[in-house]
Amino acid sequence: MTISEIQIPHGLFLAPLAGVSDRTFRRLARRYGAEYTTSEMVSAKALCYEQRSHRPVTEVRVRTAPLAAVMREEYPMAVQLFGAEPDFMAEAARMLESGDYRGACGEIPPAAIDVNMGCPMAKIVSNGEGSALMKNPARAEQIVRAMVDAVRLPVTVKIRAGWDRNSVNAVEMAKRLEQAGAAMICVHGRTREQMYAPHADWSVIRDVKQAVDIPVVGNGDIFCADDALRMIEETGCDGVMVARGAQGNPWIFAELTACLEGRPYVPPTTEERFSVAIEHAEMLVREKGERAGLAESRKHMAWYLHGVRGAAAARDEVMQTETLDEVRAVFAKIKERQDGGLDA
Ligand SMILES: Cc1cc2nc3c(=O)[nH]c(=O)nc-3n(C[C@H](O)[C@H](O)[C@H](O)COP(=O)(O)O)c2cc1C
Repeated sequence: MTISEIQIPHGLFLAPLAGVSDRTFRRLARRYGAEYTTSEMVSAKALCYEQRSHRPVTEVRVRTAPLAAVMREEYPMAVQLFGAEPDFMAEAARMLESGDYRGACGEIPPAAIDVNMGCPMAKIVSNGEGSALMKNPARAEQIVRAMVDAVRLPVTVKIRAGWDRNSVNAVEMAKRLEQAGAAMICVHGRTREQMYAPHADWSVIRDVKQAVDIPVVGNGDIFCADDALRMIEETGCDGVMVARGAQGNPWIFAELTACLEGRPYVPPTTEERFSVAIEHAEMLVREKGERAGLAESRKHMAWYLHGVRGAAAARDEVMQTETLDEVRAVFAKIKERQDGGLDA
């Protein structure tokens, strides 16, 4: 599939995941076959306010801009913005496209700018942002129109099925957003009311695919290649986006690629899994320093231990590590106990 001119050969997307899909995570997902990644969600307003501060650069704590940095090796990667005000969204989009803003530390502009219309968190929806836009299609349309007018980059949108079970309106939203100039729509087949459970309703993805001409990416509950194949078959979606299924399992993209190419997939050995868990922690420490990097890496290490025999005890041990050397030692100990096997 393509988004504007961007080629995504197998249609394999890593989802935006706040607190998870940072550069380190995106890099690992890409290594194993993710073809397109998205940043964590970035506040358009915070990005704009950081620029408007009159205090000298050295005194301003630039916290938002680095979240939007894109490195050359990351192409094609989208930066996801959230916000409810068309002016801020357009201004932030312009800044991302030009790269001309305080704290910009990326090497290239994003391949596309994505709009978050799915975040269910109370502090976001109470500002009319994220999934609250599912209740306000007119505003959603204005936002996309303003951004499309402001930049040449493709503007894409990630929506939910609707706000709640009584207002499933993904089809109406998708049509309006297409009219406003959106270049791709990703549909998470759950309402805001459902948050992240129970199962996503893929029929909504199918309905959106049938209603619009722009590419449609399906999202929700892809945890293995069979899930992806079923979603493609049941919905006709052009691409699939994996979120929680990639946590502690960047190999899911290798599995999906093998399956789509009709090749057998060989899952990683325990050794490989543990060695990537340690590498992940090392990368985070390099990026953020030992204290912050290790704090960040604990949840990832716990995910890598999913399915391992005695996972609960192993997770406890990992949670107590305070240096990289301790991380390495703990994984070596867990490995010794494994006898080389993983539980299903
Ligand atoms: C920890 C976490 C953080 C998330 N952050 C974002 C985000 O920043 N932007 C967004 O559009 N969706 C975000 N999502 C939603 C996911 O991208 C995805 O739509 C959802 O998890 C459903 O996909 P899955 O069933 O494959 O996990 C987040 C989900 C989780 C679990």
